Amino acid sequence: MSSPKDVLRKNVKMIHGCPMVYAFTSNWERIEQFQSRPDDIVIATFPKSGTTWLSEIVDMILNDGDIEKCKRDVITDRVAMLEMSAPGLSVTGVENLEQMPSPRIVKTHLPVDLLPKSFWENKCKIIYMARNAKDVVVSYYHFDLMNSLQPDPGTWGEYLQKFMTGNVAYGSWFNHVKTWWKKKEEHPILFLFYEDMKKNPKGEIQKVSSFLGKTMSDEIMDRIIFHTSFEVMKNNPMVNYTHMPTAVMDHSKSPFMRKGIIGDWKNYFTMEENEKFEAIYKKEMSETTLQFCTEI
Ligand code: A3P
Repeated sequence: MSSPKDVLRKNVKMIHGCPMVYAFTSNWERIEQFQSRPDDIVIATFPKSGTTWLSEIVDMILNDGDIEKCKRDVITDRVAMLEMSAPGLSVTGVENLEQMPSPRIVKTHLPVDLLPKSFWENKCKIIYMARNAKDVVVSYYHFDLMNSLQPDPGTWGEYLQKFMTGNVAYGSWFNHVKTWWKKKEEHPILFLFYEDMKKNPKGEIQKVSSFLGKTMSDEIMDRIIFHTSFEVMKNNPMVNYTHMPTAVMDHSKSPFMRKGIIGDWKNYFTMEENEKFEAIYKKEMSETTLQFCTEI
């Protein structure tokens, strides 16, 4: 495992054409050669799209809404991130997953073409959650302020520019959402939206549980909705990332559980930035049926 000074605040490094968190790039073969299991459940997202929220929901569903069982460990050890490798962590994401009993919940932010091929061969169930680009970039900017595995974000204006040109870790948001959206035509992928989960958690959690072949009572459903609400998760040390070493995540710069709302972008985008963003958005999204909601 690398030392902090080797990987913290380093520029992204290209992996097969995709900008990647520097610390994750050592020995990339470990990711490519990862062996899935047929009952793995993959949670795939572009960063800051509600991954932690969906992870807690899936773990709650698999544990029949048992809150104590979902407090058995921190979220990063219940839902391990495939590409994770960081100073201060005793194991990589791959090593963590290899030790886990089935069914494993595997978290990844990889674009569709970098997902290890074993997941496609085993036809693993994948849940993809997408969030509107404007709220993602605001959330990602704050995340990069507090997370030293990421390069320094610079000013908000500089960051927005980098995001629009796909020059942030995991590359272009446009490419990510469009290619995962297309992939669901040939693979079992449940495609969800952060905004739908926010507006109608019951309906969306129902979709997840049906996809996983689980049925649940109204009482369990209500418990899951409550336990995975923003306020409860913000105060739950098992999911709010306060367990991470401060050298990696410094919550005094911006908390991981920041606002959890739709439309915060309006507090950051100037009119000029919005116009520029809209023009790029229109061009990038012209040939997809994928549509997003950016406000309530
Ligand atoms: P904000 O920065 O906009 O608040 P990820 O888990 O993919 O890194 O996404 C983090 C984003 O999801 C953050 O967005 C975080 O606050 C939000 N989030 C986490 N848990 C949530 C919940 N239970 N309800 C709504 N949003 C949540």
